[in-house]
Amino acid sequence: MMDAMLAPMGPRQAVGGAHGPTKRALKRLLSGISFLLVAPLVAQTKLLAMVLKTDQPFQLASHTLSLCPGIVGNYLRRAFYRSTLPRCGVDVCIEFGTVLHQATVEIGDRVYIGCHSSIGECTIEDDVLIGSNVDILSGKHQHYFDDPDVPMRDQGGRLEKIRIGPDCWLGNSSVVMADVGPKSIVAAGSVVTRDVEPYTIVGGNPAELIRKR
Ligand SMILES: CC(C)(COP(=O)(O)OP(=O)(O)OC[C@H]1O[C@@H](n2cnc3c(N)ncnc32)[C@H](O)[C@@H]1OP(=O)(O)O)[C@@H](O)C(=O)NCCC(=O)NCCS
Repeated sequence: MMDAMLAPMGPRQAVGGAHGPTKRALKRLLSGISFLLVAPLVAQTKLLAMVLKTDQPFQLASHTLSLCPGIVGNYLRRAFYRSTLPRCGVDVCIEFGTVLHQATVEIGDRVYIGCHSSIGECTIEDDVLIGSNVDILSGKHQHYFDDPDVPMRDQGGRLEKIRIGPDCWLGNSSVVMADVGPKSIVAAGSVVTRDVEPYTIVGGNPAELIRKR
């Protein structure tokens, strides 16, 4: 019960739960403690990233923190990402098992990301709800494949920054490799290969229009 009271913003609260002053104060206290607890990891990550000039130190921290269960993990992950990402808004909740692959990911206010999701290069705007086992890819072109005589691993590739607009909902187990316009919904199990227009519900593989909202 206590856990539920003090949990960082979850999906239901993100759409309008009540918060008493005592609960808010306790949450602030727990957030403060979390920032102190992750401070050594933040310092180590930033230092190693400066020296190595790769995202590997960030990934090491992200993988490690993803294994921290329950409410404790949610507080620690939020504190870490608020300290390291270019943007990680207020009342963000990132659940157990979810990893971020790039230190350049941007996350807006009141974003919820469920368990075991995999987050590539992207901007996630305010109030986005992301289910469990969701895969946001860094676009579609991580590996070039023009020359069949050269192994794809040697042909290079590029990461593209995917944008998930404000107040979108990505259903469980969706795979997203293109932009999703504001206020849109991606049905559970869908594969988004083309940009989704605003106020649109899409579903299936490849994701097609179900209807406008
Ligand atoms: C997209 C969604 C919100 C639509 O809900 P809805 O409006 O009640 O949809 P309906 O059940 O009326 O279905 C409308 C059409 O969309 C199709 N559809 C619904 N969900 C679909 C899915 N996941 N994939 C493909 N098509 C889907 C239906 O088959 C139906 O098609 P039809 O008109 O040809 O029969 C819902 O299906 C969904 O996927 N929600 C996400 C749930 C989830 O992941 N929750 C956990 C994370 S919080």
